[in-house]
Amino acid sequence: MDRCRQQAKEKLEGICRLCRICNGRVCVGEIPGMGGFGSGSSFINNYEALQKVKLNLRTLHNVSAPTTEVEILGRRLALPVLGAAVAGTKINFQGRMDEDEFCQVQVQGALAAGTIALTGDGGYPEVFAASIKATKAAKGAAIPIIKPRLLPDIITRLRQAEEAGAMAVGIDVDAAGLINMRLLGQPVSPLSPANLAKICRSTKLPVIVKGIMTTDEAVLAQEAGAQAIVVSNHGGRALDHTPGTAEVLPEIAEAVRGRLTVLADGGVRTGTDVLKFLALGADAVLVGRPVVWAAFGGGAEGVQMLYQKLAEELKVAMILTGCACPQEAGRRLLAVDKSC
Ligand SMILES: Cc1cc2nc3c(=O)[nH]c(=O)nc-3n(C[C@H](O)[C@H](O)[C@H](O)COP(=O)(O)O)c2cc1C
Repeated sequence: MDRCRQQAKEKLEGICRLCRICNGRVCVGEIPGMGGFGSGSSFINNYEALQKVKLNLRTLHNVSAPTTEVEILGRRLALPVLGAAVAGTKINFQGRMDEDEFCQVQVQGALAAGTIALTGDGGYPEVFAASIKATKAAKGAAIPIIKPRLLPDIITRLRQAEEAGAMAVGIDVDAAGLINMRLLGQPVSPLSPANLAKICRSTKLPVIVKGIMTTDEAVLAQEAGAQAIVVSNHGGRALDHTPGTAEVLPEIAEAVRGRLTVLADGGVRTGTDVLKFLALGADAVLVGRPVVWAAFGGGAEGVQMLYQKLAEELKVAMILTGCACPQEAGRRLLAVDKSC
């Protein structure tokens, strides 16, 4: 993994510094690139909110061989970690990896580790084309995420995802004003609940709404017919000054428990971070920037190794908190801050 990081550092020179602690402070405003938008506070808040979450250490129990397996949208995964949609290699990574190759690496690396990747959409047509190609090549074991474009443009892409056999499809609604789309003159906008309902009705595929940060919108997504949400602020790349996702997750998860699959992302770097999000109410998490490092550092094999490392770390954290399976992770795992 060290060799992989070193290689990624060289290949991403001037784009990402691969800081030892990836907290969004050094890359403030670096969009296009890997940073957070504006003051960088939303990216920074993701990191800081996760830091504030503390786990209870428990070792008087019988949990010595926990399972990390979960079922998400009808598919069994080896670990509760999926690849976040990360795309736009020409604009974000100065074309240092071709969009097709990057997308294949994300999808194939995830599959080799027993999980799946979400794939992105962007301002250049080749971005979504790469997503569809990689989904087809994986026999549908990927989840294309479509930008909140005009309704007919979303439906066209939805049909492409269906034809590719995708297991699910999503819309990153938080990209409604995304700087990278604006730079390329691509019309994106907020999605009305009525249009979201039309999209959900127009397909048999489970629809994931990515970029939910409030309870009311989680409920709206559910009422519109979505099957899953991603509690996400787009890695701090959409709106400046949002809370960290770990702050808003508990309330959202509570509001839609049992009715929606709840995914969350933002700042996941270790297996302990994964367990924190599960304890806060997520069914599984997404990992973004580390997949970029792994892809540049070691291709699909590097991505596979990243998931395996996260699974190992998660297993150890589960043993040390007495958590036998991801479904058992809950508030019990969290240490309450008695100072407030
Ligand atoms: C370079 C880059 C490109 C991204 N592209 C997309 C995209 O095309 N679609 C999408 O839904 N999210 C996109 N995201 C957001 C990620 O899916 C995810 O929400 C975020 O990166 C999670 O935070 P993390 O990187 O701290 O793990 C992108 C993020 C980065 C850093």
